[in-house]
Amino acid sequence: MVANTYLPSTMRAWTFSSGGTPEKVLSFKPSFPAPATPNGSDVLVKISHASLSSPGSNLMRDIPSLLRKNAIPELDFSGRVVSAGPDVPAEFASGAAVFGTVSKLGSIIHNQGTLAEYIVLNVNCIAVKPTSITFAEAACLSCLGQVAMEMVRQAKIKKGDRVLVNGGSGAVGAAAVQLCKDLGAFVVTTCSTKHAYRMKQSLGVDEIIDYTQVNSIPAALENSYSASQFDAILDAVGSRELFLRCPKYLKPEGLFINVGDSNGSRLGLILHTLQNVLQPSILGGVPRRYITFGAPLNGQNAAHLGRLASKGKMMVFIDSTFSLEDVISGYKRYKSGQAQGRVVIDIANMDTRDQ
Ligand SMILES: NC(=O)c1ccc[n+]([C@@H]2O[C@H](COP(=O)([O-])OP(=O)(O)OC[C@H]3O[C@@H](n4cnc5c(N)ncnc54)[C@H](OP(=O)(O)O)[C@@H]3O)[C@@H](O)[C@H]2O)c1
Repeated sequence: MVANTYLPSTMRAWTFSSGGTPEKVLSFKPSFPAPATPNGSDVLVKISHASLSSPGSNLMRDIPSLLRKNAIPELDFSGRVVSAGPDVPAEFASGAAVFGTVSKLGSIIHNQGTLAEYIVLNVNCIAVKPTSITFAEAACLSCLGQVAMEMVRQAKIKKGDRVLVNGGSGAVGAAAVQLCKDLGAFVVTTCSTKHAYRMKQSLGVDEIIDYTQVNSIPAALENSYSASQFDAILDAVGSRELFLRCPKYLKPEGLFINVGDSNGSRLGLILHTLQNVLQPSILGGVPRRYITFGAPLNGQNAAHLGRLASKGKMMVFIDSTFSLEDVISGYKRYKSGQAQGRVVIDIANMDTRDQ
């Protein structure tokens, strides 16, 4: 399908200029300046869908106001290229259906984001959308899937490995579970009761610890897995206790990877990370290897996730969809703790309308 190449001078967009929660800092701009025609290896994309995400909310909350002036929130999107710079490969020419993630640096420096009708970004950030998945699904695949990919890569998961995914029902965790199962690992995950059925039936998790039914996840792990320890623990929640007690359920040569930051302040997180990485066991440190990282985000990784999704090996669960104007309700749902999957924003639904 050839995209509409009419390029408007204004667009609908949400923006923020100070740090805080979406309800407090976001404002809707019905006539925000649209991006200019792309140069070099940049593309201008008309956005079909965007998804709400933990890094999207964190960037809105944490980045000092000094650096943000009319910043557009969120990172993930799907849509169609409507204009391409002269150095863009033919597969991303005008009309191509694409998906991907704005880099965090791009978001911070250029105030770029995906809760808008159009975005200009480098072709390295995008991948061609497989025809077998919807634009809504594609908008959920990239960023948090890439974080999971990096965890699985760093842990060098292979067939037969025993892996614990803490927070397997979340966006990062569900992607990590699917990547580990695809590699032939035995996967145990934590989640709450409302997600247990989906974890087993749809994602094929081998065993579940329902964290709402136990007093302490580490204690439950000590009870059940001290005789059959894990090769790797992928923590998508950020539990310090899980690491401190892990010698009971993680093999001595095993790796603990944490990307979660749900416990404590930013400063506390940094201090704990330094302690976890640097404190030797003879000085009271935990005798297990610990790593954390900010995942590299790029179009090649997104393309890999797209290929897995098109083979049915990377499922995306969509909880609900909100219009662009109703983004605040979307964030309320996202932060309610009740969502069963991703919260998606329909900006110019290319699944149902000829765009
Ligand atoms: N380092 C990076 O590059 C990077 C990038 C992106 C995200 N992150 C971080 O990665 C983490 C996961 O992100 P996400 O988007 O996947 O979050 P999410 O979708 O909100 O998932 C959160 C997970 O935590 C679980 N959970 C909530 N409360 C819990 C508790 N008390 N005990 C155990 N588990 C609990 C949830 O289980 P239920 O839903 O079943 O209750 C769910 O599985 C976040 O902390 C995020 O900031 C890091």
